[in-house]
Amino acid sequence: MRRILVTSALPNANGSIHLGHLFEHVQTDIWVRFQRLVGNECTYVCADDTHGTATMLKAEELGTTPEAMIESIRAEHASDLARFQISHDNYYSTHSPENEHYSRLIFERLEAGGDIFTRDVEQLYDPERALFLADRYVKGTCPRCGTDDQYGDNCEACGATYDATELGIPRSLLSDATPVLKKSVHYFFDLAKYHDFLTEWLSSGTVQSEVANKLDEWLSTGLKAWDISRDAPYFGFVIPGTQDKYFYVWMDAPIGYMASFRNYVDSDATFDEFWAHDATSEVHHFIGKDIVNFHALFWPSVLKGSGFRTPTRIHTHGFVTVDGTKMSKSRGTFINAATYLEHLDPDYLRYYFATKLAPTTDDVDVNLDDFVARVNSDLVGKIVNIGSRCAGFINKQFDNRLAETIYDDDLWNEVSGSAESIAQLFEAGEVGRAAREITRIADSVNQFIAEHEPWKRIKDPDRRDEVHGVCSLGINAFRSLIVYLKPIVPALAGRAEVFLGGDELKWEDAETPLLGETINRFEPLLTRLEKKAVDRLIEASVETDDVNTTEEEAADEDGPHISIDDFFKVDLRVARIVEASEVDGADKLIALKLDLGDETRQVFSGIKSSYSPDDLVGRLTVIVANLAPRKMRFGVSEGMILAAGDDDDIFLVSPESGATPGMRVT
Ligand code: 2FM
Ligand code: ZN
Repeated sequence: MRRILVTSALPNANGSIHLGHLFEHVQTDIWVRFQRLVGNECTYVCADDTHGTATMLKAEELGTTPEAMIESIRAEHASDLARFQISHDNYYSTHSPENEHYSRLIFERLEAGGDIFTRDVEQLYDPERALFLADRYVKGTCPRCGTDDQYGDNCEACGATYDATELGIPRSLLSDATPVLKKSVHYFFDLAKYHDFLTEWLSSGTVQSEVANKLDEWLSTGLKAWDISRDAPYFGFVIPGTQDKYFYVWMDAPIGYMASFRNYVDSDATFDEFWAHDATSEVHHFIGKDIVNFHALFWPSVLKGSGFRTPTRIHTHGFVTVDGTKMSKSRGTFINAATYLEHLDPDYLRYYFATKLAPTTDDVDVNLDDFVARVNSDLVGKIVNIGSRCAGFINKQFDNRLAETIYDDDLWNEVSGSAESIAQLFEAGEVGRAAREITRIADSVNQFIAEHEPWKRIKDPDRRDEVHGVCSLGINAFRSLIVYLKPIVPALAGRAEVFLGGDELKWEDAETPLLGETINRFEPLLTRLEKKAVDRLIEASVETDDVNTTEEEAADEDGPHISIDDFFKVDLRVARIVEASEVDGADKLIALKLDLGDETRQVFSGIKSSYSPDDLVGRLTVIVANLAPRKMRFGVSEGMILAAGDDDDIFLVSPESGATPGMRVT
């Protein structure tokens, strides 16, 4: 029996679980469930990735503490993932005593080994907020093409990448102040020392070959020391021996894997069986290709340098797209897990993802028509259908009892004899090929049933045994197919287990038929996926994505009263619409340029159903001026304009004429 520890990348504690997370967690969970089904000991841990400036600022904005905020997000993430049947043994937090312990221990060991050094770093600093500005909190003019309003790391107009200090006329997005250059001491991990170790490690089957090739490029251009510290104020762990230096979030995030595992197991001894330098148990990380350098360069080197074992394998996948459009956090094109759960059964998505899974880093497209077709034609139409078409005969004609013998050895050998090859596909992450093989076997079984026409032959009293044999074989084939599918669609498999007599199916059951045994009444196991339900899901997701949600506002109507101070937190200003235009690819949005007196803002507003851009130019309206800027697919929306509305109409809120842009609205 293998002893295996598996992880998925730790979701950030700054937003909801969405399709991208689900793809990775479903991929991991299928592998984990498969390992358990074949009898291996497989522990699956995860956690929320909680540290960083963003957490600190978000909590401040919400008027809460980072600790309270991350705990409520952690609980939401754990619940969303559990509802998708993701079988974590522990879903923890990187802001934990265990993580602080191992982060400190690892740092101290690296320091003792001579892997840590300090160096002055000059960075942009916001003098009003008194903090160093990460790239996403500063904007200015692109040093290459001169386009205004570009972030501190790259230019959306010309694609240039640069250092934030190179921006022209920089401004802090946190205060609008002009940042100043300021030096501070940073701690570095001397990654270059690990060049030879990494060359060897990467060529020993620990990563897919395409990943090894990519990382070879980094190795050959030379490894740079890694800046592992951030200055106060920061939400994280203080670096030992300092007062105001914190571990950079990416330093303690992977250590969160160890911490979650330590929190799950009950002794240091068990922990050591998985993490000591000579541990023989396996450690597998499932990640996306965007974070491969952290996991396949920094992480193994940090582990090696601090005397822990290195991972057995890093399983890297590509990005998820929907109908060919790239998903990304910054562009916000995502379907939330919670929204999905309001509309559809998780097994549909798990099955569809499974059909797309391969051990490559190619991007995976969720094509919505294909989603409906695959679920309905293969899962419901071919596989579940075998159970339902045979069950009626066994339930009604044969008193729920299966035949004593196998009616057709060739078919049974085809079904049961595939257990080994399908297992190999699961092991190798070739889940899409496994799903196709399962469907192919289902085709053979359906053809066999069709050829034996039980619905006709049952009318002939001399052919009852034949019908009994055919339908019993159908049920046994169905049972094997359910075993093969169990890692993919566990809820469906659970319902099928009840029908098949109640025992929990193991992998070897696929090769051992039920003979002469009693099964239960067949209840519908999975209904067809309605395209309309998918349309509704997309509609709901588009609303939360593209238009400032009204749900929160609606919820507030019934909620507790707010104080006048709360109300004054909302900076309402008169604004004049100076430009209005349609937005390519958005049915509901109009892009507005608003004059606020001393500045101009761009706002995307979901009012297109009631206004055409030409009607709007010149009008006065009211803007929520201190709403955090929202990055949307089409650009950044810098505020929200007020409108009244119901399902049919939208009415822009406008002050009486005479009001001037910039006036405060109270
Ligand atoms: O990219 C991300 O979403 C990170 N939060 C993943 C961290 S994985 C691990 F290293 F903790
Ligand atoms: Zn540029």
